[in-house]
Amino acid sequence: MSADFSAARADFPALHQTVHRKPLIYLDNAATTHKPRVVIDALTRFYERDNSNVHRGLHALSMRATDSYEAARARAAAFLNAADPAEIIFTRGTTESVNLVAQSWCAQNLRPGDVVLATEMEHHSNLVPWQVAARRAGARLRFVPIAGDDAEHGLDLDALDRLLTPQVKLFAFTHISNTLGTINPAAELCARARKVGALTVVDAAQSAGHEPLDVRAMGCDFLAFSGHKMAGPTGIGVLYGRRALLDALDPWQTGGGIVANVTYEGATWKPSPERHEAGTPNIADAVALHAAMDYLDALGRPALAAHDHALAAQATAALADIPGLRIIGPRPGSPRAGLVSFALTDAHAHDVVTFADQDGIALRGGHHCNQPLMRKLGLPSTVRASFYLYNTEADITALATSLRRIQKFFGG
Ligand code: ALA
Repeated sequence: MSADFSAARADFPALHQTVHRKPLIYLDNAATTHKPRVVIDALTRFYERDNSNVHRGLHALSMRATDSYEAARARAAAFLNAADPAEIIFTRGTTESVNLVAQSWCAQNLRPGDVVLATEMEHHSNLVPWQVAARRAGARLRFVPIAGDDAEHGLDLDALDRLLTPQVKLFAFTHISNTLGTINPAAELCARARKVGALTVVDAAQSAGHEPLDVRAMGCDFLAFSGHKMAGPTGIGVLYGRRALLDALDPWQTGGGIVANVTYEGATWKPSPERHEAGTPNIADAVALHAAMDYLDALGRPALAAHDHALAAQATAALADIPGLRIIGPRPGSPRAGLVSFALTDAHAHDVVTFADQDGIALRGGHHCNQPLMRKLGLPSTVRASFYLYNTEADITALATSLRRIQKFFGG
């Protein structure tokens, strides 16, 4: 029995509107979630009261801004159970976090003949940066295959063991697939990588706001997430990295804020986190992300995860007998994160999304920044419904009703 978060709907101003004269049913949460009033207020309050630059001022507002920014860092460390706030780098989001590792760690450490291992289910943001970094270093990129249709679209763990050779220096994988809904066994994957001395990078974009996360229990070396997919603002995200790794990394962007000493000829770097945050950081959004993390923890992340999983199970059951509708990802009864991707035989994904929009339902259709996976599945695109704490069983019923109408229209 999952928790009932229906009262929390009142916390999200944007949910209470009509679209095409229908009450909005927002099922595009894997792309971005809505923001509760406390997050919007934290953002506004910062600009109305505390707005100032951090770290460089001795006046009252600058000290308040610095305290709030560093409190957000400490909060993010606690959110992930990191050992030290200095292990939290604020970035623009998951993509920038992955790029930081790909540009900095790979430039310093990858050698010709080394291997970067990824998986066949990676989103472009956890794929393209490794392609570029591997090419620059003369290293190779290899992929852990996904098991076929009849094996629930999980990773092929036997293949993983064969691929994890001593040449693998880095293993980058998604915690939750944004397209399949597969939940990867992150701790187990990290443990297997560690055995061959490979570092791990976990893309937690789809899990950070949905599942409890503990980087120490997971045993990862780096982990990336975005604020906007977890009730926080856009433009802010986190790269977690083990302190020793971050302190040994050269900055990937240089300028002010990161330097210990500068001459006309050169510069030396501060330790982490400052060395990885050149220029004025995104102070206000970090402060608002702090409010989002408090909000999610007050509701309880285990309960949020259970709610997501229950909605996904309801959705797969409700959609299963719609003629011509094929659901991809984990089989019914297997663990599935809060999203369901599907294809209709008779209707293109973009048409489905456009028709559902007329019913006030926000879905996403396309390749979900996952073109190689779509090719592998033999699909040009899918429709995706993705859930968050404010979604209800009634939303699933409305989705199924709308899809039956669309199927009838296109399928005759
Ligand atoms: N990563 C985002 C999604 O899956 C954009 O929709």
